[in-house]
Amino acid sequence: MNVLHFDSEMAWTHAICSLWRDRLHLKPDLTMCLPSGATPVDVYGEMSRSARQGLVSFKRATVFALDEFGGLAPDDPGRTSHTLRRQLIDIVGVSPDAFHVLDPDHPDLSAHCAEYETAIGSGFDLVVLGIGLNGHLGMNEPGSPIDSPTRRVDLHESTIQSSARYFTHQNLPRWGLTVGLKALLGAGEVWLLAKGSAKAEIVREILKREVGTANPASLLRRHPNAWLFLDAAAGALVSGQAGLPAAITRSAAP
Ligand code: PGA
Repeated sequence: MNVLHFDSEMAWTHAICSLWRDRLHLKPDLTMCLPSGATPVDVYGEMSRSARQGLVSFKRATVFALDEFGGLAPDDPGRTSHTLRRQLIDIVGVSPDAFHVLDPDHPDLSAHCAEYETAIGSGFDLVVLGIGLNGHLGMNEPGSPIDSPTRRVDLHESTIQSSARYFTHQNLPRWGLTVGLKALLGAGEVWLLAKGSAKAEIVREILKREVGTANPASLLRRHPNAWLFLDAAAGALVSGQAGLPAAITRSAAP
């Protein structure tokens, strides 16, 4: 896994967006899997500005939502699909039939998840992920099998509690639907985004502890084209030499 350290949130955001614009220039029909959450908000803001200025186009791209919360009202603004639409999809002009979402209210969740898996088809060109405080990827909590498909999952207590930030009510979701580790780990390229001091400890665990399903994000150390983007606070416990915060290092799987 390639580890990139940036000395400010702004540098972190600009670098991610610059690479993202490059990927879309090289392959305008890029197939992506994208998260909601606090981590990518500024990145989506800058990509939206870029699209408005004509610096990048999502018109031929395909986007799959990474996951979706269950047990909420269909119009709950904290649902992943609504957040993604509001922050990126509706602004950058992804065509409506090229934005795939998971529907937790579907009467047959197994069939719906199987259809999602079929729609993913040969796989993602690019997966963008935040990191859960317990190392989860999407809603693939610790212990998820590496070959897990899109499916219904129960959320761990820490995930439930930290989701409170996304909602204006106390009816926190206890389950959800998620793209499985198989499709995430099988993507052509994976970007793991971490910013802020709350992520410093899990970032250290991802890089320094054993690779394994107990920490799903650590599995990306075995991926041939995975990138971990760290701002100064998220990288504080793993930075190399002081004074050289903007650096690329490589963390090989043992
Ligand atoms: P966050 O969530 O981006 O809101 O910190 C990441 C996650 O829990 O996967």
